[in-house]
Amino acid sequence: MRTPLCEKLGCELPIFAFSHCRDVVVEVTKAGGFGVLGASTFSPEQLEAELRWIDQHVNGRPYGVDVIIPTKYDKEAETTTADLETMIPQEHRAFMDDFLQAEGVPELPPDERERIHREIIDGRGNMTPDGARRLLAVTLKHPQVKLVVSALGSPPPDVVAQLREHNVMIGAMCGKGEHAARHREAGVQLIVAQGTEAGGHTGEIATMVLVPQVVEACGDEVAVLAAGGIAKGSQIAAALALGAQGVWCGTVWLGTTESELDPFEKEALFASRAQDAVRRKARTGKTVRMIKSRLSEAWEAPGAPEYLPTPLQGILYNEAHARVVRAKRKDLYSFPAGQVVGMINEESSVRDVMYRMQLEYLETMERLHKLSPAET
Ligand SMILES: Cc1cc2nc3c(=O)[nH]c(=O)nc-3n(C[C@H](O)[C@H](O)[C@H](O)COP(=O)(O)O)c2cc1C
Repeated sequence: MRTPLCEKLGCELPIFAFSHCRDVVVEVTKAGGFGVLGASTFSPEQLEAELRWIDQHVNGRPYGVDVIIPTKYDKEAETTTADLETMIPQEHRAFMDDFLQAEGVPELPPDERERIHREIIDGRGNMTPDGARRLLAVTLKHPQVKLVVSALGSPPPDVVAQLREHNVMIGAMCGKGEHAARHREAGVQLIVAQGTEAGGHTGEIATMVLVPQVVEACGDEVAVLAAGGIAKGSQIAAALALGAQGVWCGTVWLGTTESELDPFEKEALFASRAQDAVRRKARTGKTVRMIKSRLSEAWEAPGAPEYLPTPLQGILYNEAHARVVRAKRKDLYSFPAGQVVGMINEESSVRDVMYRMQLEYLETMERLHKLSPAET
């Protein structure tokens, strides 16, 4: 399974793990894969603490960081919590509150509500050009970070120059074949071709179609990882067959012992089928693939208000989500997850997932080998 990208990055297996959870990043990395920490939900101080912890636990191995680097300046990002609060129309607030009240979901204690709002506002601060650069400055103080992935568009020239100077590989997410050329011109060295099956913000093109398009557009200079719909060794074999140099998985780690989700959330995940992972705007105002619930579907029903733009929809939704988790209401629980959620039915450790995927990969290769004509 070792590909040239493994040589370049210094890992044993081309299995990349996107996670917001440092324990997952560490365990994947220690098992020979390449953990990538989703950094955009952290403040610079939190990120520094997370990276220091990862450095101490990965036994000197390399790992990566994923940062949302917006290419356009978003003036709204400067608005304060109070401004944002007043920008949410009363109709939308009432829709969410009435729904949860009718369902008997208690309100949050004031201090918890305040904490959630603070997290959202801090998160927004990191998604401005300056905020992303602050996270980058923290990241570059950690020499074990060998890859930085830009989650939203091509990284700007000054960021590319800075990463090159530090000898850090530059990656970018991509959901359309035509975006690959733009990334390449911007100096990106690794493209994550993410199909619609994936959890999180996702486009419309399937991994099976997208990966060969991106591989073709990249030529030999830029490595491609396949993302979206990969949780088994046979899917890794398929990704490599399509020309990818590895896989980038997100959903599969949510069900691991090490994941950030609590037991109630994992139960909801294990009960979900592939068709329950749908694309909806309820969570952020942008299309996110997530497990559907009666709460997400209420926003789709006739008579529901229109989705608010980002970040207003997210502020409304995150508070509702916290109420749902606190009340342990599976029927109202939605969380970003890809279609492979239907294949994840019980908890296992990251190490076991890594081992299982390798075993399945070998079985697949053996099966395929038998299809080839015997050598004479
Ligand atoms: C819970 C969750 C949160 C995600 N958040 C981000 C993010 O902040 N940045 C990013 O580049 N991708 C994010 N993604 C997408 C992953 O990077 C990855 O492309 C995707 O999970 C791969 O498809 P899979 O879910 O089928 O494994 C997220 C995915 C999940 C499941």
